[in-house]
Amino acid sequence: MNQAERNSTTFALTTPLYYVNDVPHIGSAYTTMAADAIARFKRLQGDSVLLITGTDEHGQKIQRTAQNKGVNPQEHCDQIAASFAALWDKLEIQYDRFSRTTAANHEQIVKEFFQRVEDKGDIYLDRQQGWYCVACEEFKEKERELTEDGYCCLHPTVKAEWRDEENYFFRLSNYQQQLEAFYEKNPDFIQPASRRNEVLSFVKQGLQDFSISRINLEWGFPVPSNPQHTIYVWFDALLGYVTALLDPDREPTLENALSRWWPINLHLIGKDILRFHAVYWPAMLFSAEISPPHQVFGHGFLTKDGRKMSKTLGNTIDPIDLVGRYGADALRYYFLKEIEFGQDGDFNEVRFIQTLNADLANDLGNLLNRTLGMAKKYCKSKVPAVEVEKIEANNTLKSLGLNLSDRVARAYEDLNFSKACEEIFTLIRASNKFIDEQAPWSLYKQKKQSEVERVLYAVLESVRLSAYLLSPIIPNLSGKIYQQLGFAIDFNQPAVIRQSAPFSSHSQWGILDRDRALNKPLPIFPQLELPPEN
Ligand code: MSP
Repeated sequence: MNQAERNSTTFALTTPLYYVNDVPHIGSAYTTMAADAIARFKRLQGDSVLLITGTDEHGQKIQRTAQNKGVNPQEHCDQIAASFAALWDKLEIQYDRFSRTTAANHEQIVKEFFQRVEDKGDIYLDRQQGWYCVACEEFKEKERELTEDGYCCLHPTVKAEWRDEENYFFRLSNYQQQLEAFYEKNPDFIQPASRRNEVLSFVKQGLQDFSISRINLEWGFPVPSNPQHTIYVWFDALLGYVTALLDPDREPTLENALSRWWPINLHLIGKDILRFHAVYWPAMLFSAEISPPHQVFGHGFLTKDGRKMSKTLGNTIDPIDLVGRYGADALRYYFLKEIEFGQDGDFNEVRFIQTLNADLANDLGNLLNRTLGMAKKYCKSKVPAVEVEKIEANNTLKSLGLNLSDRVARAYEDLNFSKACEEIFTLIRASNKFIDEQAPWSLYKQKKQSEVERVLYAVLESVRLSAYLLSPIIPNLSGKIYQQLGFAIDFNQPAVIRQSAPFSSHSQWGILDRDRALNKPLPIFPQLELPPEN
């Protein structure tokens, strides 16, 4: 197989392929916003990035949803897939591939893969008996995973259904040792550490073969050797990641699909689908003699009033409504900064507004505004001509700014978005304090022009650096800040950034060029009103 050595500067990452049982909710948007922030940070650093997202369109859940609506399943899938793509546009998600499991080229990939696993001797026919949750598309253990009256713990409104049928099984048990050795050799494969422990203890209990076909289900791909059976939706969907790697004009073969971007660097998922990604998926790949991906990160759930938001529960928040009212940057910032990635987090609109007002409107927005105002008054709207080397090493902003990008890069690298924001906002808050303490207005009155300039330079440069490092999260606000600082930079254009604001220089403190003409200060983020009942 032609699995060319990956260039170390390529980075392929995925969101889950979302079920199209309903339009997207904020929980689905959460993973995609995080994936986009990582993709943007890698692009900022100059990597070639492939961000894959898409939709999972087969199986009983989707077939039933379409039936209940009285539409043909493909038509239903087309509508919902379009609503995901429309939301990604509103949230400024820069995805490179949108993988749909009903796409024509996907069937070829699934069949070829199924055949490989079958040729390996890892597929056999047997009888499957058990409780099936259609919302999870998964068999459940009665004692551990269902409530006493037979509802799914993850979908408390969905009753598990009894199944007794002949299915094809995948010999997962064959891969027990190989998987354990793999986890040991690759301690970072499953992140965060708490999820890794969950998986290790699940695997330690002994792996059971699992069924990979269904009968009496039309909506899916037929098993190549026995079209009475339909390939299990998860077997089909995981391969959607592989199909997504194909360049659009290439013949859909595994070899072609795996030739450039494989192994995928990062699968970003929610914790509920960890087992599929961290156990079943690598085992399927071992069977097909394909190397596994580098990392699976399982984040937490967004909850509302303490319960997981889910389409099945009907307690979701409509991201289209939120993005329409507050804009993409507001949502991206709130969810990535406020909820520790990996942990669960509750959504609350009051907290949302308070955070945005405090951080974006006040700390960042006002800082830019008042500093530009002073630069206009005291420095003719130009970046003061200050020699950075002459700013004392113990200048708070200089010392915080000098290695900020290393700390922030490490945080992005660890997918610790809250930490990345926290590090940057430490500089922003220090800048506000610095102005208050240095009081350039009184220095100006005392005719200490060079001191005024030194203060304003340090602050303007700190705002610029903060905007640059925040751009993967708030690309539009960062762009506005850069424009007011006199740069014609749009952070939604990676090629332009690489050219005009490369990471090697712009991630450093002290590069703002003297005498650059500054633009008119305009508010970048409005103060938001709390909802009336508060
Ligand atoms: N179709 C499968 C994934 C197949 S990947 C090859 C699936 N789809 S899903 O639409 O049900 O869920 C997609 C992702 O959304 C999962 O990672 C899930 O954890 C995430 N979320 C669904 N509800 C969520 C919250 N309330 N909060 C955070 N993420 C949530 O599973």
